[in-house]
Amino acid sequence: MNPLEETGRSTRNIDPCLLVIFGATGDLTGRKLAPAIYNIGKEGLLPANFACVGFARREKSNEEFRDDLKKSISSYSRTQPIDDNFWSTFQEQIFYHKSEFDSDEGYEALAKTIADLDKRFSTRGNRVFYLSVQPKFFPIIVEKLRKFNLIYDVTKETESWSRVVIEKPFGHDLKSAGQLQDDLHKNIDESQTYRIDHYLGKETVQNIMVFRFGNAIFESLWNYKHIDHVQITVAEDIGIGTRGAFYEEEGLLRDVVQNHVMQILSLIGMEPPVSLKASDIHDEKVKVLKSIRPFTEEDFKSIVRGQYGPGFVNGEDAIGYRQEKNVKPDSQIETFLALRLFIDNWRWGGTVPFYIRAGKRLAKRTSEVAIVFKDAPGVLFQEPNKKSEPNVLTLRIQPDEGISMKINCKVPGPSSPLQPVKMDFRYGSYFGQSPPEAYERLFLDFIIGDNTLFARTDEVETSWKIFTPLLEYWAKTPMTFPNYACGTWGPKEADEMIAKDNRTWRKL
Ligand code: BG6
Repeated sequence: MNPLEETGRSTRNIDPCLLVIFGATGDLTGRKLAPAIYNIGKEGLLPANFACVGFARREKSNEEFRDDLKKSISSYSRTQPIDDNFWSTFQEQIFYHKSEFDSDEGYEALAKTIADLDKRFSTRGNRVFYLSVQPKFFPIIVEKLRKFNLIYDVTKETESWSRVVIEKPFGHDLKSAGQLQDDLHKNIDESQTYRIDHYLGKETVQNIMVFRFGNAIFESLWNYKHIDHVQITVAEDIGIGTRGAFYEEEGLLRDVVQNHVMQILSLIGMEPPVSLKASDIHDEKVKVLKSIRPFTEEDFKSIVRGQYGPGFVNGEDAIGYRQEKNVKPDSQIETFLALRLFIDNWRWGGTVPFYIRAGKRLAKRTSEVAIVFKDAPGVLFQEPNKKSEPNVLTLRIQPDEGISMKINCKVPGPSSPLQPVKMDFRYGSYFGQSPPEAYERLFLDFIIGDNTLFARTDEVETSWKIFTPLLEYWAKTPMTFPNYACGTWGPKEADEMIAKDNRTWRKL
């Protein structure tokens, strides 16, 4: 069942299953995966017959692993404090398995553990393998899972199912993404592959389609005739923290823009799908990505790359990127990006700029999409030398999730000046609760076998096609970094870039 079609999660028919998390002692497991499993378990949304195995290379007992998870949940879960009653029973379904990712003995032992747990918890042979590990390990893990018959061959009939979930980045550029795909497909079928882009699990991102296609009033305005431009911002105030080694390989474009931002952009730019079937939605998203105008040499020069230097964030001193652990002192890795792109299709007419700005260690954490409409004809209410402000529709992805519309209004009184005012909808105050974490939704989806909110291989590939030439240009064009201080809105060139088009970034 498609998540957009359902009326409530309790209507989902969830098969029993066993979940194996590779990289179970890693950062993502602690910060996101453990709190997600805990919260959906507590809400009674997991299958009644369920068990979880953490697979990692460190020596640990089941008890130590459970204690580690409990600590992480206590620090990172959106619901606090931890419910000790629930946890003491739930933890009995969680186990630890120590092994190297390429060790045959490790997988042999895993197969035994899985067979035992399958009997004990009646999970009926259904399995999800969650690969929360560096992408270089994906092929070998999948190969071993296949070798030890832990993943089923979809060409043969089985009553049970097996699925593999992988975390981005899906490749490093177009070529390596293709290679990764080929490597995975040697051992698993596309229908068994779930590529997590957790932005798709965010309520506000899912709501983009509902907002666009469930409300008649906006759709007729959603095109080049009425929209002046679109701004997509994904700003974070945090730095690289403990992920220096990862960032030195990836950088912000690969980490955030090629996937999260492009997913948002495709939902904003897409045509209405034929139906809410996953494949119909994916088809429309791919069409938008394919319509993006390739960057020219000129575009390469105007795209702004940044790297943060020392500064202040939230009133405290913050070190520069090059001073972070595991980062080279002369690193060329970008932590900020501002660019403009166009969609050459009928809806967007190749004339509506989509401005994208994303970065680490910016002034605050905020992600939003702003649709800036064209000016009203300035004949009636325009004051001399002062234009009225354009209408702006803002979809706030996070925090303070919501939607607002800026409109012009008459100030009460005889002089009648115009003033922009904001109509505001907030998830928190309207629904009386903050939306669940993205990973909670995605966990339920891959257990249920719904891949609507997961990236399809051609989406990934098309996005790499757009950005690989830029990455190649950067590789041969070094920058003088750092070029913005922590706690600011990025390099001044980002302001200059948009100013050339007589526009400004929204003040957030
Ligand atoms: C991850 C990136 O995919 O998304 C991180 O690897 C980034 O660098 C994170 O911080 C942002 O996610 P969220 O949900 O906090 O916006």
